[in-house]
Amino acid sequence: MERVIIFDTTLRDGEQSPGASMNQAEKLRLAIQLEKLGVDAIEAGFPAASKGDFEAVRLIAEKIRNTEVVALARASKEDINRAWEAVKKAAHPKIHTFIATSDIHLEHKLKMTREQVIESAVDAVRYARKFTDNVEFSAEDGSRSDRNFLCQVFEAAIDAGATTVNLPDTVGYAMPDEFAELISFVRDHTPNIHRAVLSVHCHNDLGLAVANTLAGLRAGARQAEVTVNGIGERAGNTSLEELVMGLYTRREHVGLTTRVNTEEIHPASRLVSMVTGIVVQPNKAIVGANAFAHEAGIHQDGVLKNRMTYEIMEPKTVGLSRSRLVLGKHSGRHAFRQKLGELGYDLTKKELDGLFEKFKELADKRKEIVDEDIEVLVAEEIFRVPDTYELDYLNVVSGTVAVPTATVKLKIRGKEAQNAGFGVGPVDAAFNTIAKMTGTRSRLLRFSVNSVSGGMDAQGEVTVRLQENDLIALGKGADPDIITASAKAYINGLNRLEYLKKNPSLSPEERTL
Ligand code: KIV
Ligand code: ZN
Repeated sequence: MERVIIFDTTLRDGEQSPGASMNQAEKLRLAIQLEKLGVDAIEAGFPAASKGDFEAVRLIAEKIRNTEVVALARASKEDINRAWEAVKKAAHPKIHTFIATSDIHLEHKLKMTREQVIESAVDAVRYARKFTDNVEFSAEDGSRSDRNFLCQVFEAAIDAGATTVNLPDTVGYAMPDEFAELISFVRDHTPNIHRAVLSVHCHNDLGLAVANTLAGLRAGARQAEVTVNGIGERAGNTSLEELVMGLYTRREHVGLTTRVNTEEIHPASRLVSMVTGIVVQPNKAIVGANAFAHEAGIHQDGVLKNRMTYEIMEPKTVGLSRSRLVLGKHSGRHAFRQKLGELGYDLTKKELDGLFEKFKELADKRKEIVDEDIEVLVAEEIFRVPDTYELDYLNVVSGTVAVPTATVKLKIRGKEAQNAGFGVGPVDAAFNTIAKMTGTRSRLLRFSVNSVSGGMDAQGEVTVRLQENDLIALGKGADPDIITASAKAYINGLNRLEYLKKNPSLSPEERTL
């Protein structure tokens, strides 16, 4: 079987999802998981976009040793310099440069002629080749471009040294049969196409990103650009898990394979959801909570007799039933450190000490601690910004007749404070009291609760999104008690807002944390 190159852009296009933003530690952690997942390339960011993006790409390039690390750049020397500066320490660096090729973009956005676009593409690729022999060129809005012009641009880019040429359906407009036909056309009318890998990059505006990518691969493209959970600009990108499992499950029909370790799909999906705060819809293929749940009696009966009656994939193939029971309250520091290592965390002694203490507190409340609980603990304790506010104590009274009342003790810049307040429900009472004590002027934009793992005693994981003027911060908190988890998430969001206020030199892109 021929192999398809899986180019992951969760950290770049994925981060362009409305509402998604990750800090540097979170990005690094995700890159480590992507390497474990076995993707061929990690597009780590767009270094010219902001200082934060530059730094994240640099950190990832230094850490990741077995996977290509890619930096995005517009077709300009300044962008390419920044991209190279950020990615140059990678074991396998790649520069990805792009320019739009559709007449709409040329006329209204770039105000350039076709000749000028070809010249810019050639100059950019040639310039990038001075730094590395691994250069990708993308024709933005390729699917809406004049086909003959598209082939001309690709031919010129390959002659200039591009080793990959990528055809994006930037606005998610293509239909699968049409996209397949376009790929065949490009293969037939770009004379030097055999000297480069032909790649596809699809967006999901019409819900067709995976179908279009699959159609493109079947027509001869050999690289697919994807994101975990399909996150990305607007309606998102091709979902990694859907594409990879489609190729795997129907391998005899499609005849294409990947290097992805499918058992790492579920952990990767959870991590992306946790760090971006973007919840996976329950009926999402492969990684949704219901993807392997059988509700109808006839289905349950069939699956019990032979799972192939209603299941086309085994849950364990996507990492759902790997041994999840990991630790309990009798587990020692050594076992805890070993588990963290298995999950890919390399912590300092100080970090480990703090985390072990929190683990013991949680183990006192829950009988079994599973991998997801540890992921959440790490997210809460390690990927955190410095605390302006700390939760010391929370007591909430609510019920069918009681007026929901919260009593809260906080440490505010190290000093103890206490207050009480009411609300329409227990979460509202807790938030009102915390808001009064901290004097915050932020607005709650979003509130969501998720179960970290299965079971009645599962931890609730709460995500909040807060806005104060032009600053937006995500807050996350987990606890077996969802009111406590909500208070922790709210306080985490307030701490992130404080951090943003204290760092006014951050660029506009970085002012969302
Ligand atoms: O969608 C798009 O066109 C892109 C390019 C930068 C590849 O993301
Ligand atoms: Zn894109």
